[in-house]
Amino acid sequence: MKTALITGANKGIGFETAKQMAQLGYFVYLGSRDRSKGLEAINKLENMGISNVELIEIDVTNINSIKQARQDLENKTKALDVLINNAGISGGLHQNISTVDIEDLRKVFETNFFGAVQTTQQFIPLLKKSNVPVVVNVSSELGSLTTHNSTLNPNYKIYDAYSISKTALNAFTVMLANELKSTGFRINSVSPGYTATDLNQFKGTQTVEQGAKSIVKYATLDNDGVTGKFFREEELPW
Ligand SMILES: NC(=O)c1ccc[n+]([C@@H]2O[C@H](COP(=O)([O-])OP(=O)(O)OC[C@H]3O[C@@H](n4cnc5c(N)ncnc54)[C@H](OP(=O)(O)O)[C@@H]3O)[C@@H](O)[C@H]2O)c1
Repeated sequence: MKTALITGANKGIGFETAKQMAQLGYFVYLGSRDRSKGLEAINKLENMGISNVELIEIDVTNINSIKQARQDLENKTKALDVLINNAGISGGLHQNISTVDIEDLRKVFETNFFGAVQTTQQFIPLLKKSNVPVVVNVSSELGSLTTHNSTLNPNYKIYDAYSISKTALNAFTVMLANELKSTGFRINSVSPGYTATDLNQFKGTQTVEQGAKSIVKYATLDNDGVTGKFFREEELPW
């Protein structure tokens, strides 16, 4: 059975992604930084008849927590097939870049960028043991510089810190995909689209089922799958 680790999967898009991946037959390690929230999520899945899922405690801003999660996973499985860097925060509103508090900017980067980078670095050895290692970095259209320069609704300027953290995450996707191309890794940035979750006070226009769909599509690529790109359902501009 193929294995997948999803960070921040106790709720929202991550939880739905865990559900869909488990339904496709993956053994899912459901990442949660909070043990009781994680167990609640596992319980919810079990009540839906899904049993191929287990909790992994992981806080992506804490390197000791990530190393412990890696150790836990190494004790449970010989290889990790899929890593989905889903954990993310919005950082709140009013993040115009000319005035955003630098500490707020750092905080968003800690989770959305450094969190994904240090998590991936720790799990690369276990991913390398898979026949087709796949990494999905959950990004956003707000991370697209092309979109900011052309079609972006000016109302989204209140999310500048968040947007830049996702641009940086996209850069990480490209660098890592290029570095690991010859080793068979499939590494892409994927946006779920504007989805109703806690992140946006449930104002998103899509359901989590719709949001998770693109993530699952690029998390289940085979060895002829694309790498180093940015998608929603279809390809997005950087
Ligand atoms: N919703 C949208 O419209 C939208 C659009 C584009 C991209 N995205 C991206 O989709 C991803 C999921 O967001 P969502 O909308 O599902 O938001 P959400 O419902 O707020 O879920 C975020 C998840 O990330 C976890 N998390 C936050 N900080 C963490 C940390 N340091 N370590 C581990 N887990 C952490 C949260 O855990 P707690 O429960 O403990 O806080 C929660 O499980 C994010 O990367 C987000 O940027 C969302």
